[in-house]
Amino acid sequence: SPNSKVLVHFVNQDGVKNSVTVSEGETLLDVVINKNLDISGFGACEGTLACSTCHLVFEENIYDRLDSMVDEEVDMLDLAYGVSKTSRLGCQVTVESWMDGMTVRVPQEVKDQRGQ
Ligand code: FES
Repeated sequence: SPNSKVLVHFVNQDGVKNSVTVSEGETLLDVVINKNLDISGFGACEGTLACSTCHLVFEENIYDRLDSMVDEEVDMLDLAYGVSKTSRLGCQVTVESWMDGMTVRVPQEVKDQRGQ
């Protein structure tokens, strides 16, 4: 149902895990904003596919089931730090009930780059 609650674990760039219960139909960018998750610089372009700060790494079994990327997402992801084969832009991924219990990770490389 549209009101289903879905458990999502976020691991931020410091390796800190935050577990939140969110509504189906929210994007992962919405979740970070609405739940006030401590992920610095996340979602700079507010979901308009003009940045890659909402980059998240997914578990393979989840990644395989996500809707395919539009060209603009592919292009922006190319520019992101620490891209892996299960990377997506969080503003383009909408929470669905089958994702219950998934873990998404902010790439550590972003922090490492800033720390140098
Ligand atoms: Fe900028 Fe997702 S928030 S591309």
